[in-house]
Amino acid sequence: MPKVLALETSCDESAAAVVSHSDGRLEVLSHRIASQVEEHARWGGVVPEIASRRHVEALPHLIDQALRDAQLPISDLDAVAATVTPGLVGALMVGSVTGRTLAALHDRPFIAIHHLEAHLASVRLEACPPEPPYLVLLVSGGHTELIRVDEAGALDRLGRSHDDAAGEAFDKVARLLGLDYPGGPAIQAAAVDGDVARFALPKGRVSKPEGGYYPYDFSFSGLKTAMLRQVEACRTWDEPLPLADLAASFQQVVVDVLVDRSLRCCSDLGLSTLVMVGGVAANQRLRECMHSRAAQQGVDVHLAPLTYCTDNAAMVGAAALGRLASQSIASSLCLGVSARWALENCAPLYQSNPPF
Ligand code: KG4
Ligand code: ZN
Repeated sequence: MPKVLALETSCDESAAAVVSHSDGRLEVLSHRIASQVEEHARWGGVVPEIASRRHVEALPHLIDQALRDAQLPISDLDAVAATVTPGLVGALMVGSVTGRTLAALHDRPFIAIHHLEAHLASVRLEACPPEPPYLVLLVSGGHTELIRVDEAGALDRLGRSHDDAAGEAFDKVARLLGLDYPGGPAIQAAAVDGDVARFALPKGRVSKPEGGYYPYDFSFSGLKTAMLRQVEACRTWDEPLPLADLAASFQQVVVDVLVDRSLRCCSDLGLSTLVMVGGVAANQRLRECMHSRAAQQGVDVHLAPLTYCTDNAAMVGAAALGRLASQSIASSLCLGVSARWALENCAPLYQSNPPF
């Protein structure tokens, strides 16, 4: 029964978890998160220097608590894993150095994990995880992508955002509406009693140079500008800003775009399973609409459990156990961190001669 200690520090959540794998099932034995959201909210977004400092302060306690909750000493674990790319370099460095140090001290393999591979693995923490082939909609603060996962686990990116990620659009529009950071949960709360059809907003499309549109790609910058114009127009009215209707109309257009393009992609590719992961996959309206629309089309939907949509270490453990199960794998203790790295190119993270 392989067990790993996993660390996550790529952005503004410090997290540690112990995850095990037995009889084909993953079990989260413990997971701890220290969110820095309140501190960054004061600045309206993540301040990288503050994020790194808070990771340094929080991570040792989180590791200690995670090991105690799991009632396991590090010597009983099979590996130590940490996110090494993509993300804020200073923040990533904290988890990576801590992970490599623990691995060296306890003579355990170190497993470097790509943050998006961890988000993809979060669906395996569901009670009945799906079997590939399937389509994944990965929607977070940094990415909006449609990825096909084949029977062998190989990835093929079929769609992406050409400008803002969906989560970034939530964060920027929340700021425009005077709501707190992170914008996703704030807009979701503000939208509860709002009229989703009050304001007509554009469903951004990406044009092909030869004419027509890329069917599975996204663009949220036009929507953001349309929201800015609408808010400016509302401010000239002799009434308070219709916050609930603005939030609901915005949220609904993002949901419609994500649901439409994902289901169109499933239908074109003949895929009957759709997976949704990442911070924006925590959105209640998106979860409901994806389920109901997919059911009409005969598509089976698997959502990452709510707790594991936003950044956490359990999903890093799930990805590390996936790597361990497929081959006996380890990363070099000389591997550093990188702000960017293609998800399709993870093999070099396990070479003795590291790429960064
Ligand atoms: O996956 P995540 O924690 O970090 C990244 O890898 O980016 O995603 C964070 C993003 C933020 O943009 C946040 O506003 C968004 O996920 N988010 C949501 C919700 N909860 C978090 N967006 C919409 N609705 C939510 N309930
Ligand atoms: Zn993330």
